[in-house]
Amino acid sequence: MNTLLCAALAGLSLAQPAYKADWESLDKRPNPQWFEDAKFGIFIHWGVYSVPAWGPKGKYAEWYWHDMQDRNGETWKFHEAAYGADFKYQDFAPMFKAEMYNPRDWAAVFKRSGAKYVVLTSKHHEGFCLWPDPNNWNWNAVDIGPHRDLAGELVEAVRAEGLRMGFYYSLYEWFNPLYKSDVNRYVDQYMLPQLKDLVERYKPDLVWPDGEWEHPSATWRSEEFLAWLFNESSAPKDVAINDRWGKECRENHGGFGTPEYQHRSDGRLSKAGLFEECQGMGMSFGYNRNESAENYRSTEKLLELLINTVSRGGNLLLDIGPTADGRIPEIMEQRLLEMGEWLAVNGEAIYGADRWEKAPEMEKVRFTQKDGAVYAICLGWPGEKLVIPNVTRAKSAEASLLGLDGPLAAAAAPDTVSVTIPALTPDKLPCRHAWVVKLTLK
Ligand code: GLC
Repeated sequence: MNTLLCAALAGLSLAQPAYKADWESLDKRPNPQWFEDAKFGIFIHWGVYSVPAWGPKGKYAEWYWHDMQDRNGETWKFHEAAYGADFKYQDFAPMFKAEMYNPRDWAAVFKRSGAKYVVLTSKHHEGFCLWPDPNNWNWNAVDIGPHRDLAGELVEAVRAEGLRMGFYYSLYEWFNPLYKSDVNRYVDQYMLPQLKDLVERYKPDLVWPDGEWEHPSATWRSEEFLAWLFNESSAPKDVAINDRWGKECRENHGGFGTPEYQHRSDGRLSKAGLFEECQGMGMSFGYNRNESAENYRSTEKLLELLINTVSRGGNLLLDIGPTADGRIPEIMEQRLLEMGEWLAVNGEAIYGADRWEKAPEMEKVRFTQKDGAVYAICLGWPGEKLVIPNVTRAKSAEASLLGLDGPLAAAAAPDTVSVTIPALTPDKLPCRHAWVVKLTLK
């Protein structure tokens, strides 16, 4: 074949769309490697709801507008007492000023936390956009409130720190008159143009839809959108997606699964495979002023959540709810920085690590594996000896403690592998929680 013809054929095959607009084709796409390796991301719920920043304890504060409709409910009672019965939700928008918002400071905290990616609510169910969406006239952060492109500024700062940037996007909107009267027109003339605008402007590494449950993916035209996203859009070729694309989609179609508050730090997750567990540090995603320090989990518990999740093959998307003036509440910042301290020592057992299929059940030890090593992550100080069932029938064992120089004495017997743990004074401990013994079993 002559070279010209070859070049023409190569050009043709490049022009062929890689994915068809149907689930059969789209579901063949693997989750991108960067996402599988990242393990830890930061979720950010920020919007007009960050102004009242209130919900009954244990409820999602970002549902404020929805929940205040119930005139017998606690949210309405709070609203009436604090702002008055005539005060509309929309009246909060000018109070969302973000005057303390410094995206570079946020990004520096995320970097120090050890997270590898960030997911911001570009638009929650209230419909308010954190970027200057031309379709959403006057109900976006540039036209009203902060008068800034909150999303765009964060994209830049997060990428400057070398982290990946993604967007949460709510398909439905509680009170959008077009959505309520004609969902097909809403999708065609408003939602799809809006979502595409978001993608084309910021080229996100991750697209995280939500609010899909009232309609099947055919109504949202999700297959068509995804084929466009993968084949034609300006998003990176390794863009990651979740599974919330229509009411039949969760755990069936799209990318990674999205369990939400589905296991507490001491619980067990049943579902294998790639998933991303999302939770706030307390019980809400949006900032809830009604929560107090005791409603927030300690760093130790949050690390346990991360370790449990990763040991089961998942990622943790840990949420923060910034304030309306643009700050990360100190308690959240502190938790993130302490998680980062732990990850700086023990990240080897987390990033890029897989579930260890053979892992024995142990109450206080979780396992991951990578590059031929097994990591025994001890949720409590293991004491003088760490004894693990010898599930691989190893004949020999080598061990070390992450963050401590030199090998540890280790021995493999037919039934057990045991590692002698040195007695360390508190100031010599490599970290404050969850100590990791690295094992090479042969
Ligand atoms: C939900 C909620 C929401 C939250 C989210 C996070 O479906 O409606 O408030 O944003 O999921 O997973």
